[in-house]
Amino acid sequence: MSVLSGRKILLGVTGGIAAYKTAFLVRLFIKAGAQVKVILTPAAKAFVTPLTLSTLSKNEVFSSFTKDDDENGLWNNHVELGLWADLMLVAPATANTLSKMATGNSDNFLLATYLSAKCPVYFAPAMDLDMFKHPSTKENFNTLISFGNVMIPATSGELASGLSGAGRMAEPEDILRFIEDDIAEKLPLKNKKILITAGPTYEAIDPVRFIGNHSSGKMGFELAAEAYAAGAEVILISGPTHLENPNDGIKLIRVQSAQEMYDATLENFDDMDVAIASAAVSDYRPKQAASQKIKKNNENLQLELVRNPDILATLGTKKKHQILVGFALETQNEEENALGKLEQKNLDFIVLNSLNDTGAGFRSETNKIKILYKDGRQKTFGVKSKKEVARDIIEEINLLLHE
Ligand code: CTP
Repeated sequence: MSVLSGRKILLGVTGGIAAYKTAFLVRLFIKAGAQVKVILTPAAKAFVTPLTLSTLSKNEVFSSFTKDDDENGLWNNHVELGLWADLMLVAPATANTLSKMATGNSDNFLLATYLSAKCPVYFAPAMDLDMFKHPSTKENFNTLISFGNVMIPATSGELASGLSGAGRMAEPEDILRFIEDDIAEKLPLKNKKILITAGPTYEAIDPVRFIGNHSSGKMGFELAAEAYAAGAEVILISGPTHLENPNDGIKLIRVQSAQEMYDATLENFDDMDVAIASAAVSDYRPKQAASQKIKKNNENLQLELVRNPDILATLGTKKKHQILVGFALETQNEEENALGKLEQKNLDFIVLNSLNDTGAGFRSETNKIKILYKDGRQKTFGVKSKKEVARDIIEEINLLLHE
């Protein structure tokens, strides 16, 4: 899956012949799973039509401060558009637009949006050989790069003027790859390895029955997805769930019992930078699983249960450089119990879900958490989707890793 999947891309197209290639570029972004909105400068409209780009991007195309066909003069909000974007790309970027971007000129909608955007901005220059070589153009490149913008280098080849040399816009496939590589390179958890346990465990009573619990595994799978999106190498060790692997790049190990989860976790732990235990591990298992289905021969049936190993506590005794994160689901004396587990299991922080909070818990789509750190700090979060909660937890881990 592309790192662009789910990202919001604002494509600014300026008036150069390479503008016709932006139709292909938009298609590539959409195929990579991105959302795309396009802004055309007035000059760009002579090279590529708004209809082409709105059809391909499946979004309205912007080219002026007001909606063209609206007699009430409803304005296009450049600030909102700038904030919407996860990244902005100006391609082709003509010498004229680049000089305006370098000096803060905002005399068209694209430039005003560029000035409002807070996201990373890429630009792909396209111009004729002599314009490209001109010292003022070079200076503009340097100025824009010094502002934190990223230049996608132009290539050499035949130019629209008939001359041959530097100044051709990079090909759409190369622009896509350049941006993907640049994002991957800058992801916060790049080169970090994270192990996550998730879901319930099933403890066999006989070949058809088990002791289990209602954990859906959702929280752990969302954590895996967010850690992966942040650039980490992820191993997800999950008990039985109906959930699919959020991303083929995640190594998913499916297990049944606590003992299997324990074995898989310990086998992988030494290499990890972070381990998050979100699984609802069965504390006990039947001492002996019957080899044949148990028949109802007697009025009463007694099962002898024995303790399962505590996976997280074991990691706590083995940890060296690793950051260790646990969960606590409590109904009473929440903080006290959670702090007890934090200490006993040698964790860096524990995520407390209180069953007393509405919107928190096992089967719910949402969660409400409080994070308790080993140094006594606490952070309380509001009711959020499990995806947003996962993002918050991964962000806390990111902060710890970069402390
Ligand atoms: N955990 C684990 N292995 C176990 C039991 C729990 O890794 N055998 C992990 C869970 O994934 C979670 C944390 O430990 O991160 C929860 O701690 P635990 O003491 O098991 O909480 P409860 O099961 O709620 O404990 P208790 O029933 O004692 O309240």
